[in-house]
Amino acid sequence: MTQPESLLELRSISYSYGNGEPALRGISVSIRTGERIALLGNNGAGKSTFFLCCNGVLKPQSGSVLLNGTVVSNKKRDLAELRRHVGIVFQDPDHQIIASTVESEVSFGPMNLGLPKSQVAGRLDAALKAMNLEAMRTRPPHYLSGGEKKRVSIADILAMEPSLILLDEPTAGLDCAHTVRLEETMAALHRQGMAMLVSTHDVNFAWRFADRILVLSKGDLIADAPAAEVFSQTALLQQAGLEKPAVFALSEALGIHPIPRTMEELTCQIRQSS
Ligand SMILES: Nc1ncnc2c1ncn2[C@@H]1O[C@H](COP(=O)(O)OP(=O)(O)O)[C@@H](O)[C@H]1O
Ligand SMILES: [Mg+2]
Repeated sequence: MTQPESLLELRSISYSYGNGEPALRGISVSIRTGERIALLGNNGAGKSTFFLCCNGVLKPQSGSVLLNGTVVSNKKRDLAELRRHVGIVFQDPDHQIIASTVESEVSFGPMNLGLPKSQVAGRLDAALKAMNLEAMRTRPPHYLSGGEKKRVSIADILAMEPSLILLDEPTAGLDCAHTVRLEETMAALHRQGMAMLVSTHDVNFAWRFADRILVLSKGDLIADAPAAEVFSQTALLQQAGLEKPAVFALSEALGIHPIPRTMEELTCQIRQSS
């Protein structure tokens, strides 16, 4: 059997909460296996609404969602299949966390899939290890710090082993050390072939992480292109209220091409050329 071109495809979806301007207007996006995509846009641009449409929590009023080339219907079975493949890490962990200990929280999803106990245990261990939560197994999630809760909410989704993980502003609430750790985890997931779509305000993080950038502005998708192409378009960034990543702006000013992703790479290139 040949693999369909896209893992998840949104065809011209629109969504309105019914109180004025639509939150999404005719968005078409196709996501392939293993892609690393950042979704940028101001507050209220429609990022969270977009994510909720991607895994069937919200049903677009028009347009369609396709999983592996097949239209997802309203049937329970189709929606369950969509959610098994597409996992969302919510921006606010309190919207996601329900159980009374970290380990019961992270086991909950795999148990609901009806997996054998040994597999549930294996997934739990791997997810806790990836998010550095092994020492907190028996702690009640509701008494953890904001950053710790965030890591639990990510472990929740990792344990489901989705094909595509949607992270809604994952670095908000994480300190620097945990942001670095999260980026390492995301790199490891990428090596395992997981596709990732991450919404963020942090253009520096987006430039380090993403191969492709989507930009939403007032419910319109105003860019969908390779990261270097998007960040070279100053007018577009201004329209979306976004800064240029620091390494990107500095490299452009210095005439360095191709533009490195990190300050370390940039320093190294400057040293080599001087
Ligand atoms: N539950 C809701 N009820 C009504 N309007 C909403 C709701 N959630 C979001 N909106 C509106 O939809 C638009 C897009 O919001 P959202 O998707 O949360 O944007 P973002 O995640 O980019 O900040 C905004 O105008 C917001 O006020
Ligand atoms: Mg949001």
